[in-house]
Amino acid sequence: MAENDKYRVLVNILTKIARLTSPEELIEEILEQAVQFMEAERGYVFLQTVSGDIFKAAGVENIEGLKRYSSTIVNRVLSTGEAVLTHDASKSPDLISDSVVLESIRSVIAAPLIVGQDVKGVIYLDSTTRTGLFTNRDLELLKAFAGVASLALSNATKFRELLESYEALRTDFELKSEFVGQSPKIIEIVTLIKKFAPSNLPVLITGESGTGKELAAKMLHKLSMRKGDLVSVNCAAIPSDLLEAELFGYKKGAFTGATQAKKGLFEVADGGTLFLDEISELPIDLQAKLLRALQEHEIRPIGATRPIKVDVRIIAATNRDLKEEIKAGRFREDLYYRINVLRIDMPPLRDRPEDIPLLVSHFIRKYGNDRIKGIERKAIIKLMRYHWPGNIRELENVIARAAVMASSELIRESDIQIEELKTTEVHRGSGRIKTLEEMEREYVLDVLERCGWNKSKAARMLGITLRGLQYKLKRWGVESEKGGDG
Ligand SMILES: Nc1ncnc2c1ncn2[C@@H]1O[C@H](COP(=O)(O)OP(=O)(O)O)[C@@H](O)[C@H]1O
Ligand SMILES: [Mg+2]
Repeated sequence: MAENDKYRVLVNILTKIARLTSPEELIEEILEQAVQFMEAERGYVFLQTVSGDIFKAAGVENIEGLKRYSSTIVNRVLSTGEAVLTHDASKSPDLISDSVVLESIRSVIAAPLIVGQDVKGVIYLDSTTRTGLFTNRDLELLKAFAGVASLALSNATKFRELLESYEALRTDFELKSEFVGQSPKIIEIVTLIKKFAPSNLPVLITGESGTGKELAAKMLHKLSMRKGDLVSVNCAAIPSDLLEAELFGYKKGAFTGATQAKKGLFEVADGGTLFLDEISELPIDLQAKLLRALQEHEIRPIGATRPIKVDVRIIAATNRDLKEEIKAGRFREDLYYRINVLRIDMPPLRDRPEDIPLLVSHFIRKYGNDRIKGIERKAIIKLMRYHWPGNIRELENVIARAAVMASSELIRESDIQIEELKTTEVHRGSGRIKTLEEMEREYVLDVLERCGWNKSKAARMLGITLRGLQYKLKRWGVESEKGGDG
C-alpha cells in the first residue's frame, strides 16, 4: 500500500471506530482493522480486569495451528505502558524463555490501550514467517491507532455506565409506580424484588390471597431482562387431570383426542419465566415431574420418547403453609427445597395500614376517571379500621365501587361499602387475634372521632402528649390526609 493510501484508510478506520458505542463491538473492530492495516498474521486484544487478571477479549488468526503468544511482551506493555516492536523475537535474548521460541514467532508489535491514567489493555500483532515485518513507522501508527481506540473505549465504557445508572433509575421508578407502599415491609419487598430479578434461581412468594404475589412475580420478570415471556398458570384453576398436558404438552396421538401435538406452558415460557400460582394445589404425581424438570432443565411431553431442553425461570406462589402441607403428606419436601431458594413473604394489608392512604390514592387515579379528586378523611379512617381479609384486591374493589358510587368529586364515608362489624366481634368470630398495635390504633381513632378530631383534647383524654399522638397518627399514615384541625 502506498503511504497516502495508508493514511486515507487509517482515517476511515478511526472514524468508524470512534462511532461505536458498545465496548465489545469496539474491541473486535479495532483488532480486525489493525490486523488488516498492519498486514499481520495474528492479532489479539488483551484486557486487564480490576483485579489484575489478563484475558483475551478478541482474536483474529489468519494462520492456523498456533496457540501461544508472547506473554512477556504483553506483560511488558501492560506494566510500562510503552509500545513494543521486535523484529526477530526468536533472537531477542530477553524473550528467549518465552513462548516465542516454541512457536517461532518472529515479528511482534504491541501498543497499550490507555483509559484515563491506567493501562487497560494491549493490542498485540505478530507474524511467524517474516522477520522485520513491522517497521518503526508501523509502531508509530499502531500507537496512534491505539490512542484513538483508547479514547473510544473510554467513551464506550462511560456510555455503558451512564446507561446502567439510567436503567437503575428507570427500574426504581417503574417499581415505585406499580408497587405502591411506604411501609418498611413494602420497602423491604421492593429491595428484594430488585435483588432477585436478575438471578435465574427459583423464587417462592408466600402470602394471603390478594397481597400482591402475582404483581411481585410480574415485577420480577419485568426487571429480569429475560427475553422470553412471563407465562402464568394457576394450579388450582385447572382440573388436575388436564394439568400435566397443560404444563408439559403432548404429542399427536398421545391419548384419545390428541389429534394434534400441543406445546406445554414450559415450552411456551422457554427463555422466560413460568409463574406457578397456588403451587400447593399441584397433584403429587405432577410434583415429581416438576421436580425432574427443575433438576434436569428438560421436560417430556406426554407421549414423547425424548425430553426437550428448556430454559425457564420458575416463580411459585402459595397462600398455604407449605411446611404444613409437607407434614400432611400433600407436598413433596424435595420440591419444596427446590423452589424455596429465594423467598418473598408478602405481608397482609392489616399489618401495614400506613400503606392504605397511598394505595387508595393509587386506586382513585386508576378508577376515578379524573372525576374523583380525593377522599374524605372519615372514609380513610373507616378503611384503616377494617381488617381486610381479601387484602389489596379487596381494597381495590372497594375503591373501584366507591368511585362509581360517589356523587361528588370526593369519596365519602357512605360510599365505602365494607362490613364494619365491631372489630372485637369480628375477631372473636374468625378466631384471629389482634395485635396490641391494632387495638391501640382503633381505640385512638375512636377517641379522636368522639372529640371531633380535636387532637389536643384527644391527647389529654388519652393521657399522652400532643406530640405523642401526632407521632402515632403519622406512623399509621393518618396524617397524610388533609383536613380537620391541628
Ligand atoms: N403494592 C401494591 N401496589 C399497588 N397495587 C397492588 C399492590 N399489591 C397488589 N396490588 C394489586 O392488588 C390486586 C391483587 O394482587 P395480586 O398480585 O393478584 O395478589 P395475589 O396474587 O397475592 O392474590 C392486583 O390488582 C394488584 O395489581
Ligand atoms: Mg393470585
